[in-house]
Amino acid sequence: MITTARLSLRHFRPGDAEAFAAYRSIPEVARYQSWDAPFSLDDARTTVASFATGDPLAPGWFQYAIDLDGQLIGDIGLNTADNLMQADLGFTLAPAYQGKGYASEAVGALLEQLFTERELHRVSAECDARNVTSARLLQRLGFRQEGFRPEYSWFKNEWTDELLFGLLQRDWRSARSAG
Ligand SMILES: CC(C)(COP(=O)(O)OP(=O)(O)OC[C@H]1O[C@@H](n2cnc3c(N)ncnc32)[C@H](O)[C@@H]1OP(=O)(O)O)[C@@H](O)C(=O)NCCC(=O)NCCS
Repeated sequence: MITTARLSLRHFRPGDAEAFAAYRSIPEVARYQSWDAPFSLDDARTTVASFATGDPLAPGWFQYAIDLDGQLIGDIGLNTADNLMQADLGFTLAPAYQGKGYASEAVGALLEQLFTERELHRVSAECDARNVTSARLLQRLGFRQEGFRPEYSWFKNEWTDELLFGLLQRDWRSARSAG
């Protein structure tokens, strides 16, 4: 679906279930996410099967598999609004593949497609305020921090602060043309 220098973004397929269960079961990966570790292989098979049938161009959530040489190393969730002009996204990388620029490469390629081919006006993202690697990734890609919501969510048995980020098509295009 999308190819970069080192990666491809593709649909999930049944053979991804084991790698998916493995990285979703790591407590540091699940820490600020909607699921709890461990994540069973049965749950992974069901989730992967439902991801596999998604349509990236339709409104609602679509999950892109991040593939390195045929191996699932992470995923990007994209929630396209009903108006097809804006979307939210989230991302995960297996820890063995963090710190190598893979998330920047994958999410950057998706943003390029969203803004130039699909002509989205805006992409938004949110993260726990303690999730510094996630905030750093968004800022590296050009997202602007638009808000801070103190104790906004009751999440995993505590009140959590949330950061709001946004990126407009015109800012993406001008950053790209400035190199
Ligand atoms: C959020 C997450 C995807 C970020 O991963 P990441 O590895 O930090 O991001 P990248 O893959 O873009 O790698 C960037 C790092 O690789 C380094 N790097 C090494 N080689 C590189 C290369 N060839 N190109 C670019 N960067 C490279 C960069 O310097 C940067 O390091 P720094 O952050 O210390 O400056 C990851 O931390 C994660 O999966 N967390 C758990 C899940 C989660 O919380 N998701 C967010 C929910 S909102």
